[in-house]
Amino acid sequence: MNIIGNIGNFHRKRIINMMKYRVEDLADRLMAGEALSREEYAFLIDCRTPETEAALAKEAAARRESIYGKKIFARGLIEISNCCRNDCYYCGIRRSNGRCERYRLMPEEILSCAVEGYELGFRTFVLQGGEDDYFTDEILCPLIRTLKERFPDCAVTLSLGERNRESYRRLFDAGADRYLLRHETASEAHYKKLHPAEMSFENRMRCLWDLKETGFQAGCGFMVGSPHQTSRELSEDLAFIAEFKPDMCGIGPFIPHRDTPFASEPAGTVGLTCFLLSVIRLIHPPVLLPATTALATLDPRGREKGILSGANVVMPNLSPENVRSKYDLYDHKAFTGMESARCLADLSGRMREIGCELAVDRGDVRKEV
Ligand code: 5AD
Repeated sequence: MNIIGNIGNFHRKRIINMMKYRVEDLADRLMAGEALSREEYAFLIDCRTPETEAALAKEAAARRESIYGKKIFARGLIEISNCCRNDCYYCGIRRSNGRCERYRLMPEEILSCAVEGYELGFRTFVLQGGEDDYFTDEILCPLIRTLKERFPDCAVTLSLGERNRESYRRLFDAGADRYLLRHETASEAHYKKLHPAEMSFENRMRCLWDLKETGFQAGCGFMVGSPHQTSRELSEDLAFIAEFKPDMCGIGPFIPHRDTPFASEPAGTVGLTCFLLSVIRLIHPPVLLPATTALATLDPRGREKGILSGANVVMPNLSPENVRSKYDLYDHKAFTGMESARCLADLSGRMREIGCELAVDRGDVRKEV
């Protein structure tokens, strides 16, 4: 019997494939705690409906609440340098962007940001920067030790890119608690389309496993809607998250930057980012999941939407006013208003409006769930 008719083999295969699953069944299985196959994740992404989005968001928020209560954790973000040896095609601070005005904070400046942050109530400091050769272990370890001595009740998170195993060990031994290194994409072929040949997918993955083995709470993550990304690549990302079980996972929409090779590529969407936040919460419920700045950049209520989809971390900016606009990863990056730590009260109010409460404690990942 041929109910599809004579439509050619390509479309025929696609339609048969589309009839293979029901999106509601996949959503139910995910909500029941089952892992899906790559093909199933891709189907779920392609065929999602407003109803499945709403159902997964509701369940993701409920799972978050059953683990962390109503708390949304605030982290103080200090962007320590925009000097970077890498040349990622998507990133505004890439090495070959001659228009980027470079800066680097000295250890004393980083410390004063932390002092200010501590007074505001932050109990996690995230030191994030490009891969800047200045920040050797010799510079970083004493800085980490000082931070931990002056603020023993605080967690120190690093987000400083790829380093060797010994370096990660030294930073951990100096007292750093967490490390964020987005994997960017879990597909090797896709990785090659986003990065120049001198960067390797294999090394990125090696770094992530090293971080985990060293003892860090380790975070991975990716951009949503990056050039050449389809549901197939996203399904690889989801399968990787199911396997790696990151303690943190940073995802945000890709936003083009005018001075990069991807300047005229379209941005990712808030809708798909929020959907993936829900899926990730359900795949790995204890994960610490930020509603990122990129999400807030595309939508003034992006943060709230992220939280309502299952995110539970916000990362306001503690960097000094004069460098803030220079950490220019993508166009129109939000760096005033909600991004300013001085607007903590505002952020706190917004969280209350959506039934959550902004928490300033360390907010470590829950291992036992
Ligand atoms: N759009 C969105 N996110 C970006 N990042 C870098 N460039 C962009 C962009 N154009 C993200 C990368 C990186 C993190 C620091 O910022 O995922 O890991």
